[in-house]
Amino acid sequence: MNLRGRSFLTLKDYTREEILYLISLAAQLKTQKKGRISHRNHEGKNVALIFEKTSTRTRCAFEVAAHDLGMEVTYLDPSGSQIGKKESIADTARVLGRMYDGIEYRGFGQEVVEALAEHAGVPVWNGLTNEYHPTQVLADMLTIQEKFGRLEGIRLVYMGDARYNMGNSLMIVCAKLGLHYTACTRKDYFPGAELVEQCREWAKESGGSITLTEDVKAGTAGADVIYTDVWVSMGEPEEVWEERINALLPYRVTAEVMANASEDAVFMHCLPAFHDLNTGIGRQIHEKFGLTEMEVTDDVFESAQSVVFDEAENRMHTIKAVMDATLPL
Ligand code: CP
Ligand code: NVA
Repeated sequence: MNLRGRSFLTLKDYTREEILYLISLAAQLKTQKKGRISHRNHEGKNVALIFEKTSTRTRCAFEVAAHDLGMEVTYLDPSGSQIGKKESIADTARVLGRMYDGIEYRGFGQEVVEALAEHAGVPVWNGLTNEYHPTQVLADMLTIQEKFGRLEGIRLVYMGDARYNMGNSLMIVCAKLGLHYTACTRKDYFPGAELVEQCREWAKESGGSITLTEDVKAGTAGADVIYTDVWVSMGEPEEVWEERINALLPYRVTAEVMANASEDAVFMHCLPAFHDLNTGIGRQIHEKFGLTEMEVTDDVFESAQSVVFDEAENRMHTIKAVMDATLPL
């Protein structure tokens, strides 16, 4: 398997074998890290991390992973670069490509990360766009593999805004790897028809399936994984909270939903999550709408079925695998 020089922009561009290779490389790098076996495979290289939206996990995962691989990093925060304001993406790409061996980009439209990759001349890694979050779902697949010992045939149900980055990327990875994906949400939050069609084609080859349903009871019955994400994503206007709460409250992950799933089902979330009042936004929403928890109830989030911090740790191992595999030697 040779992925050297490739960008990692969306899993639509990767085959089933390539995705499985990245997951197994991540598992191997995780074992090496736990065993304190040095893996400075890219000693002396430099990577740039561009964040036009905020981050905890993705930034830290890229930084630690880069250091473990023997590399230095430059972090450009949402206000710390000229990108898009004084300098075009194409020009920025050509500048950074002269200095760095690889570039991570988190931002808004997918077309921005695509343009960066087109002009940089070095691998570009998507650290989240409005449309996709490919490094997150690699970590999720590694986590599922660890919990269930397999990926094929796993029934994963996504509840919430299934039209956005997490819903799209989970549907793609499930279709490619032979999992059964269900978007369980209100009709107007279903993923786009074109992507659904494309995923159904992949699912035919992999033995997976794609289901869209508004019915919580039927949609979550016997599921292995119940997955959710915030109802309002980064960059969306505050005004949408009200419509999201009204639309998505019936699709909150509760103890009842978990009880309807399989006996050994796990709860997953890319994080950050609104499950209590210990955040600024959580308290604001509480004052305005009276809710004490949003997409997931605190009891589920804190339960033994919740594997959210395993997922968070696996961000680092999978991001390391992506960099390790795609950076030219
Ligand atoms: N899950 C995730 O991408 O988290 P951050 O926004 O903290 O990077
Ligand atoms: N859908 C969320 C994911 C955060 C990791 C967002 O885009 O804000």
